[in-house]
Amino acid sequence: MKAISYASYGDPSVLEYGDLPMPKVGPGSVLIRVKAAAVNPVDWKIMGGYLDPLMDISFPAVPGWDVSGIIERVGIDVPEFAPGDEVIAYGRTDTVRGGSFAEYMALPASIVARKPQSLDWEQAAGLPLAGLTAYQVLNRLELHAGETVLIHGGAGGVGTLGIQVAKAKGARVIATASPRNHELLRSLGAEPVAYGEGLPARVLELAPDGVDVVADFVGGVVADTVAVLKDGGRHASIADASVEEHGGTWMWARPVGADLQELADLADAGKVTVNVAKVFPLQEAAAAFALNMEGHTAGKIALRIE
Ligand SMILES: NC(=O)c1ccc[n+]([C@@H]2O[C@H](COP(=O)([O-])OP(=O)(O)OC[C@H]3O[C@@H](n4cnc5c(N)ncnc54)[C@H](OP(=O)(O)O)[C@@H]3O)[C@@H](O)[C@H]2O)c1
Repeated sequence: MKAISYASYGDPSVLEYGDLPMPKVGPGSVLIRVKAAAVNPVDWKIMGGYLDPLMDISFPAVPGWDVSGIIERVGIDVPEFAPGDEVIAYGRTDTVRGGSFAEYMALPASIVARKPQSLDWEQAAGLPLAGLTAYQVLNRLELHAGETVLIHGGAGGVGTLGIQVAKAKGARVIATASPRNHELLRSLGAEPVAYGEGLPARVLELAPDGVDVVADFVGGVVADTVAVLKDGGRHASIADASVEEHGGTWMWARPVGADLQELADLADAGKVTVNVAKVFPLQEAAAAFALNMEGHTAGKIALRIE
C-alpha cells in the first residue's frame, strides 16, 4: 500500500511517500480503507522525538491517529462491523507504527465508531482526536447547563469542538482566540476574547463573578485561569502539566469507541460540526505538518487519500 512514513525522528523533511506492507488484522480488529486522515500536533511531536520517554515506536513509522474510512475486512470475532461500513477512529495504539497517513490502517474494533452521515470524509477524520479530547475534558469537569466555561484556544481543533460540546451541554461559553478568529468563535456560539496581556480583565468584564469551569486547550495560561475561576471552580489542561500544582487536572484523551459514538451522534443531531481549514493530498503530508506547526490553524487540517 502507499503510505507516508519516517525511518528516524526529525522534522517534516524525514517524511517519505512510498510502498509499505499491508497491515495485518488481528482478532477483534478491523482493516480500514482510509478515505481521510486529520493532522494533530501530537503527530509531529511524536515525529520530533518529544514523546519518546512515553511511547514505544517502531520504524518505519506511519504517522496519523485520526481516520475516516470504509471497513475493508474484519478480523476473527468482530460481530459489530462488516465490510463496507463507514467508520471513524482516534487510532492511538500503545506502539507508534501503523498510522492513518496510508491507504489502509488496522485498529481494534473497540475504538472504532460509525461515521456521522452529516460530515464529509475530511470533516469526519477531524472529529475523533480533537472531539474526544474536548468531550472527555468537559465530562471530567462535570460542566453542566447554566454554568459558564472559559475555553483557552477556542479556534484550534480541540477548541472549536470544545465550544460546540459545551454549548450542547447548555453552558455559556467564553473562548480565547486572536481577533481574526472571533467571527468563527461567534458562529459556534461562543463569546470571543483576545488572549494575551490583560486577558483576566476581559473575561471578568463578561463574567464579573468569575467562571465556573476553565478548559485549557493551549497551555501556559494557568495564571489567567486561576485569576478568573470562581471559588470552588474546576479546571483542566491538555497541554500543561503544571495545572496540577493549582488544583487542576492534567488530561490525555483516551481512545474510547463508546465516547466517540456519542460524539458522532451529536454531529448527526446537528450539534457538532468540524471546521476544516485546509485539505492536502496524502503526498503533501510534509506541507500539512508545516502548516500545523505554525500553531494558528482555525479548526482542522486534513489529508485526502484517493
Ligand atoms: N492531552 C491531550 O489529550 C491532547 C489532545 C489534543 C491536543 N493536545 C494538545 O493541545 C494543544 C492544542 O491542540 P489542537 O489540536 O487544538 O491544536 P491546533 O488546532 O493546532 O491549535 C491551533 C490554535 O491555537 C490557537 N492559539 C495559539 N496560541 C494561543 C493562545 N496563547 N491562546 C489561545 N489560543 C491560542 C490558535 O488561535 P489563533 O490563530 O487565533 O492564535 C489556533 O487556532 C496542542 O499542544 C496539542 O498537542 C493534547
